[in-house]
Amino acid sequence: MVERTLTLIKPECVAEKHIGDVIARIEKGGFTIKAMKMLQLTKREAEKFYEVHKERPFYGELTDYMSSGPIVAMVLEKENCIADFRNFIGATNPQEAAEGTIRRDFGKSIQFNCVHASDSPENAKREIYFYFSDREIME
Ligand code: CMP
Repeated sequence: MVERTLTLIKPECVAEKHIGDVIARIEKGGFTIKAMKMLQLTKREAEKFYEVHKERPFYGELTDYMSSGPIVAMVLEKENCIADFRNFIGATNPQEAAEGTIRRDFGKSIQFNCVHASDSPENAKREIYFYFSDREIME
């Protein structure tokens, strides 16, 4: 089934000028970019976006970090996109991510892990519409 997922290029990856590297990997990996924008989250927006993690001990530092600088948000499309993209970027902790994955090559730590990806169809829908309207998503 053709699916869509939401990915974010996180602040450290943008600051280190890896936007182009990450986008090239995504396109070569067979994912089609259907929407894209650069923005900076407010602390409150980051808290809302990551509210599923609000009981976790890292919630405060995660939302400080994610609102600390510009990010790039994208909607990607492909067959089995949600699971395939999570495999493609590698494990949450870059040290545990497989060779050749985006997180392994550009991530620094579990917090500074280069990219975010939706983890289920329900979350993908919620996360896509957190950043984009229908008008901004290509057919
Ligand atoms: P992401 O895919 O954006 O989803 C939630 C984020 O929380 C995750 O990537 C990590 O960056 C972050 N995270 C997960 N576990 C930890 C942890 N133990 N310490 C700090 N950050 C974490």
